[in-house]
Amino acid sequence: MYETSQKSTMKGHKEWINEVNFLGVVNHPNLVKLVGYCAEDDERGIQRLLVYELMSNKSLEDHLMGRGNSPLSWMTRLRIAQGAARGLAYLHEEMDFQLIFRDFKTSNILLDEDFNPKLSDFGLARQGPAAGLSHVSTAVVGTVGYAAPEYVQTGRLTAKSDVWSFGVVLYELITGRRAVERNLPRNEQKLLEWVKPYISDSKKFHLIIDPRLEGDYSLKSAHKLSSLANKCLTKNPKSRPKMSEVVEMLGNIIDDVLPPPEETEAETETGVGVEETEEDRDQDELGKEGGNYKRKVYEFKELVSLRNRSTGRLDWRCWMQGGR
Ligand SMILES: Nc1ncnc2c1ncn2[C@@H]1O[C@H](COP(=O)(O)OP(=O)(O)OP(=O)(O)O)[C@@H](O)[C@H]1O
Ligand SMILES: [Mg+2]
Repeated sequence: MYETSQKSTMKGHKEWINEVNFLGVVNHPNLVKLVGYCAEDDERGIQRLLVYELMSNKSLEDHLMGRGNSPLSWMTRLRIAQGAARGLAYLHEEMDFQLIFRDFKTSNILLDEDFNPKLSDFGLARQGPAAGLSHVSTAVVGTVGYAAPEYVQTGRLTAKSDVWSFGVVLYELITGRRAVERNLPRNEQKLLEWVKPYISDSKKFHLIIDPRLEGDYSLKSAHKLSSLANKCLTKNPKSRPKMSEVVEMLGNIIDDVLPPPEETEAETETGVGVEETEEDRDQDELGKEGGNYKRKVYEFKELVSLRNRSTGRLDWRCWMQGGR
């Protein structure tokens, strides 16, 4: 099942090409799949179409803002944060070249039938700085309320700009409020300003937690999540954690909430558990990703040559990723 989306008037041709290029290369369980695309040149100009896999639970924004949905449990929020962090860590640290997402926000975190998160919208993504350079200089784009202050002020883009946006989304998960909400009283409109006095006073901290949770959350883990968000929201970008470190910290927060696993008979008999360790799983996943990655690079080259052959005039073209 697929979602089609006609974005010809909403997004420029450059963003459309960007999305096709980058989504054609990346391959990770926490990134949405581009199933196909086509562009047709007719009397109205170029009509562009992108076809994504259908994400049956729509976006995180839809759930957090309670558009007719039941509220997300605390554990689901933590898992969504971890999955989204894995998606960013892959883009920043696990490919041959670095990708900076640039538009990380709740409406671009889509949820599948099991609430697994996948990042969507690569129209604004940018390749990270070349070796030896600390940042990319670019025009400032993104969404108000999510962009890192140094990026807004100087146009200097690094992967740490995404880490800032991730911190903003963590506070949205904690509070159930938008990064910027014009319908609230003036002093509550900007989420990061509103939470400030509450996070510095541990007695008041519980007052910012999403009331839709109806108290069904662990205060200790909410504190830890807020302290992780604060790390991501450090003024100096260099002091912000890398996304792989964020994934690890989220893993620890989740482990603290989960009840300890019950001992199995085998464990009791031998005294030694043979459970797969986190490290084993990571290794396995890495192996799988590695294989797919090589295949993707190959597909990307094909795509580029396809594009080069038809530069000048964009005919209609349709591309399907293999195997789906
Ligand atoms: N693949 C998909 N499956 C299911 N729903 C989707 C899918 N892609 C988008 N949506 C829905 O459409 C909504 C709008 O997405 P869209 O990317 O067009 O706009 P946006 O994220 O609000 O803004 P922006 O254009 O800045 O990204 C999402 O919040 C989500 O509810
Ligand atoms: Mg979007």
